[in-house]
Amino acid sequence: MADKTKDNSLKAMIDALNGTLADHFALYMKTKSFHWHLKGPRFRDLHLLFDEQAGAIFAVTDAMAERARKMEGTTLTSIGSIAKQATIKDQDKTDLDADAMVKELHDDNAKVVEDLKKLKDAAEEAEDNATSALVDEWQDQAERRVWFLRQTMK
Ligand SMILES: [Fe+2]
Repeated sequence: MADKTKDNSLKAMIDALNGTLADHFALYMKTKSFHWHLKGPRFRDLHLLFDEQAGAIFAVTDAMAERARKMEGTTLTSIGSIAKQATIKDQDKTDLDADAMVKELHDDNAKVVEDLKKLKDAAEEAEDNATSALVDEWQDQAERRVWFLRQTMK
């Protein structure tokens, strides 16, 4: 691969990494908000599920940011930089019912799976095997969250 092409594909991968990271932070915050604002007869189950999922989302953020730095890119710096790059929409309502929360988190986690598939392609394009391998793990975790939420909706 010519150097220029390699530089471009590396830059595209770092951009995808940071976009995915921003979505993880946005989804972390929304999942915590739903953990805090939930009400209704399924409170205990969903309160615990949302907390578990928020923890799992937060747990991958450090590795994502450090991957961008290892590849000599920069990464997110502030709440503002997260807001600029995230595609997960804010949800500031505090009175959603439990079903609406589960549906929204399901759809957002499915969106994160799509982000990760694009990141996987970008990592392969950049011939970055380590990022590619990490993405497999992050995707499996996101699919696990989608699965739990999907089964909850049935
Ligand atoms: Fe809590």
